[in-house]
Amino acid sequence: MKKNPQQRIEELCELIREHDYNYHVLAQPLINDFEYDQLINELIQLEKDNPQFITPDSPTQRVGSDLTKEFKPVKHKIPMLSLSNTYSEEELYDFDKRIRESLPKGEKPEYVCELKIDGLSISLRYINGKLNVAATRGDGTIGEEVTNNVKTIRAVPLIIKKLSSLKMKLIEFEVRGEVYMEVEAFNRLNDEREMNGEKTFANPRNSSAGTLKLQDPKIVAKRPLQIFLYYFFSENEGLKTQYENLMLLQELGFRVNNNFKLCKDLSEVLAFCKNWENRRSKLPYEIDGVVIKVNSLQQQKILGNIAKSPRWAVAFKFKAKQTNTKLNKITWQVGRTGTLTPVAELEPILLAGSTISRATLHNIDEIKRKDIREGDWVVIEKGGDVIPKVVSVDLSKRLKSSAEVKIPLKCPVCGSTLFKPEEEVAIYCENNLCPAQVKGRIAHFAARGSMDIEGLGEALINLFVDLGYLKDYSDIYMLKEKREELIGIERLGEKSIDNLLNAIETSKQRPFEKVLFAIGIRYVGSGAANKIADHFLSIEKLMNATKDEIEAIHEIGPSISESVIRFFRNAQNRKIVDKLRKSGLILTSKGKIKRSNRLVEKSFVLTGTLSTMSREEAKEKIQNHGGSVVSSVSKNTNYVVAGESAGSKLDKAQKLGIEILSEKQFLELIKE
Ligand code: IVH
Repeated sequence: MKKNPQQRIEELCELIREHDYNYHVLAQPLINDFEYDQLINELIQLEKDNPQFITPDSPTQRVGSDLTKEFKPVKHKIPMLSLSNTYSEEELYDFDKRIRESLPKGEKPEYVCELKIDGLSISLRYINGKLNVAATRGDGTIGEEVTNNVKTIRAVPLIIKKLSSLKMKLIEFEVRGEVYMEVEAFNRLNDEREMNGEKTFANPRNSSAGTLKLQDPKIVAKRPLQIFLYYFFSENEGLKTQYENLMLLQELGFRVNNNFKLCKDLSEVLAFCKNWENRRSKLPYEIDGVVIKVNSLQQQKILGNIAKSPRWAVAFKFKAKQTNTKLNKITWQVGRTGTLTPVAELEPILLAGSTISRATLHNIDEIKRKDIREGDWVVIEKGGDVIPKVVSVDLSKRLKSSAEVKIPLKCPVCGSTLFKPEEEVAIYCENNLCPAQVKGRIAHFAARGSMDIEGLGEALINLFVDLGYLKDYSDIYMLKEKREELIGIERLGEKSIDNLLNAIETSKQRPFEKVLFAIGIRYVGSGAANKIADHFLSIEKLMNATKDEIEAIHEIGPSISESVIRFFRNAQNRKIVDKLRKSGLILTSKGKIKRSNRLVEKSFVLTGTLSTMSREEAKEKIQNHGGSVVSSVSKNTNYVVAGESAGSKLDKAQKLGIEILSEKQFLELIKE
């Protein structure tokens, strides 16, 4: 007899859930990909024919179609703390000593050691066994909701089946852990991005962070995010230890990293740390240390927290990963402002999962201080996230024929004579038309945080400059006239060119302050660009401003003002700006959106935590209505806004009889 569709849908959901668990949590698949796809396809078809039976936790609903327009703030029920770090055995002794001294006489602590996964912390809230909200850590009190993106991680159960078999009743609970990317998957993703002319990520951690904040869950689903959970919390779980906590997580079907250990004393903890420091490179994911937690929850309670981290746990951070290799050559890289940076060209070597062939040497002083020479054997190091650096030279292997590094006299890219200001360590190429500078300026213009032109990465910029399509960044907006020619370039193709041209068109909407930052005036970072745009409100006024007028802006000093004047005095720069104007870029601003004047001359003090916005946002809202924010309460304060766990400022305001606003009253006051 043929099953009715609803029954079959339920059955398929259950089956697929089971297979997801076996594959993604246990890494023990029971069927092959083909068989799995058959189940999925059957479910998709049945749901298509009978949409009334689709449930939100069906495996087909992991990839939603809705774009996330904004990541909503989520207030954490319990703050997400961070850990204090230790770097040596001595510091761990001190930690253990502190713990033992703080516990009641005769009580000895046990510790649970876990690997410190190098990813992003995440909190998942379940209600009635169903995933309700996933949030990032944020500032520890308020995070951002990323539920749709987290749902695409197949190891995250959307529904917990085993709740009913537990002794305890769990209506609502929260689990916490780390979202990360495996090294191999990360490398594959980066290769793909490079091929497509997209910016590559510096490390798996950045790559996970970038992915979790994508607006389109469909793209997130294609990225290889993974998760480990390490913490379970509910009002009535009745657990006694962190060890039981991890066991319960596993029992409920969460993915827990298996390499944890219950240690009965510090010597076992030290052995665990040493062991994993040696074996870390064999793991398929990156860890940056070990987390050591007091096992007993009762003892954890006694120990409590200090500020933002618990007293009952600590991170033991591994030393930066080091290795030896040969420095073949020192080359000089020319940046967008003409600064020359020495780069060590190394004999390629594998370090912590990636092959390293270059390292920064910062500047000539650094080379002299460490006495680094071409042909030397050097120790290189890769810290948590940064570009590799040369730590030291193995002098025993130095060749007799080696010679000190000479400061270059000519620009390695354009050949023009270099300039070294007396009082600076930097060396500059002063030729504005130097191809390296041209490429650098265009890259800065197109980058995220500037005009944010998706798809216009370094590789494509180099190509377009070399082929003569781009002479400066204003040429970007002329590319559409060359569409046919560009499509003809090998490897590019119609689709990628059209995507690029669309992204270029979209970038014309960026506000004035972004354009001002993007044009790359030396010393004008994004903060200064904001202030200048807000003050002058148009590029015209800025171009005609005097040094004094620019310096009248709060926190803008002479180096910025002189640089702005120099930039606009240059006829070439003025021509480029003119071209940008003709292309339709926004070169004026209405200033900070002043919505009203109703709070003019009113001063506010913010205290405690607001659940719907950060302090910065609250401040901006107050300013939008003409009000100001000060840091301490006095008799001149007009309002004190009291958020969650407001402290002494609230007491003072009460004493002084100042009007106190709840968050709700405050929202009412600043409503647009
Ligand atoms: S426990 C109060 N356990 O490391 C407990 N954290 O600053 C704090 N992390 O933000 C977290 N692996 O993102 C804990 N096994 C682990 C961890 C872990 C990675 C991260 C976490 C946290 C940071 C510590």
